[in-house]
Amino acid sequence: MHSVKELLYSKSAIKDVTVAGWVRTVRDMKNIYFIELNDGSTVRNIQIVFEQDEDLLKKLETLTTASSIKVKGDLVESPKPEQKWEIKGKELTVYCITPAEEYPLQKKRHSFEFLRTIAHLRPRTNTFGSVFRVRSTIAYAIHDFFQKNGFFYIHTPIITTSDCEGAGQMFQVTTLNMEEVAKSGKLNYEEDFFGKKAYLTVSGQLEVENFAQALSKVYTFGPTFRAENSNTSRHLAEFWMIEPEMAFFELEDNMQLAESFIKYIVKFTLDRHTDEFEFFDKWVEQGLLKRLDNVLSSTFEKITYTQAIEILLKSNKKFDFPVSWGIDMQSEHERFLTEEYFKKPVFVTDYPFSIKAFYMKRNSDGKTVRAMDLLVPEIGEIIGGSQREDDLSMLLKNIEEKGLNKQDYWWYIDQRKYGSVPHSGFGLGFERTIQFITGMKNIRDVIPFFRVPGSAEF
Ligand code: 4AD
Ligand code: MG
Repeated sequence: MHSVKELLYSKSAIKDVTVAGWVRTVRDMKNIYFIELNDGSTVRNIQIVFEQDEDLLKKLETLTTASSIKVKGDLVESPKPEQKWEIKGKELTVYCITPAEEYPLQKKRHSFEFLRTIAHLRPRTNTFGSVFRVRSTIAYAIHDFFQKNGFFYIHTPIITTSDCEGAGQMFQVTTLNMEEVAKSGKLNYEEDFFGKKAYLTVSGQLEVENFAQALSKVYTFGPTFRAENSNTSRHLAEFWMIEPEMAFFELEDNMQLAESFIKYIVKFTLDRHTDEFEFFDKWVEQGLLKRLDNVLSSTFEKITYTQAIEILLKSNKKFDFPVSWGIDMQSEHERFLTEEYFKKPVFVTDYPFSIKAFYMKRNSDGKTVRAMDLLVPEIGEIIGGSQREDDLSMLLKNIEEKGLNKQDYWWYIDQRKYGSVPHSGFGLGFERTIQFITGMKNIRDVIPFFRVPGSAEF
């Protein structure tokens, strides 16, 4: 069996090839049948030409869009200028005839909103097929980058009993019978599966930090869960995150790594998907390739939070959320900085302690922390990271000031007692990265099956 992609990129004609896939279109032209076949190996179809033959005719007549077939034939030069090769069909096997009148993807173009209601079928479209091929390659690029740079992949747990971000957005995991609890009015977590309250993780950072204290350079890449009630084009309740953590790295080293990491995965993916990127540039975001080229050739900007606030205040732009020192920047502020002001990716550092997580290293001013967010055009925040508080007494102070319970973090605190070292890391949102690289506007359209408030179909 050959893939459509292999055949389209063949260097020469081949006698006797076999290909299987789904019919995109079928046309009967003066007793010659033209079939456009796609097998998902590429966004492009291969054309199959059947010269009419009595035995085949009956089968060919029944073919509809999305029917599944296998074809044997010869790969020959195509007379059409837009394609180098086509298949001269000799044998046809029909697996399944799709009932044309029922098939929801009959039309050539459907809105992304409509396709979200049939998320089980949307990978068959050119756009979604391309998005998911590229998603796979981006995941590969991420592992490739870290493996080539001496990092070890750590599988951090999905179920956890501590809140990494301290933001209280966790989904609870329990085997207690809620109906029983409601009826009896008694709730005892000691009787729960783990003997205490447990959750789905919002981040693997706290666990992976422990491994950085042993293996120096590590990363985790897995699903994370957040019960935030955000119905935006950039939030999911279940998303994937990549979190590298490096012993002996300070904030500057952290930013340098993040910049070369982003550039590496963009280039790696562009190099492997010429057809998909040509498609995205034409149909999804005009100018995408130029935007990505700009990312590769620019040096990312670096400003402090305080400078960012000054720029926003001086901009004379009307924002929906008013700007003042101490605010948690909204997407409109972030996008102004990266899209309009700097017109390239921007690191913002040294945020107020009050709006960041307990584990970040405090600056000597006592008010700000060694945090860094990376903001990129079209998305806003794509990375959140920091240098970590490696001083035991400062960490305990942070935990207390954030109103957290130090018993919940005893094992995390232990690191600061036994060979504590300066260390840093960050989290890259995987789906936001796919949006950034493909130009897709809604995060629900870059994950196979999306989970958002009020919706977990499929
Ligand atoms: O900024 P966040 O919350 O950082 C952390 O979780 C740290 N523990 C990371 C670390 O230092 N190891 O999240 C990191 C990134 C964000 O910048 C964003 O790209 C993505 O994760 N993200 C989301 N993506 C989709 N849906 C959501 N609800 C997201 N929340 C965060
Ligand atoms: Mg963040």
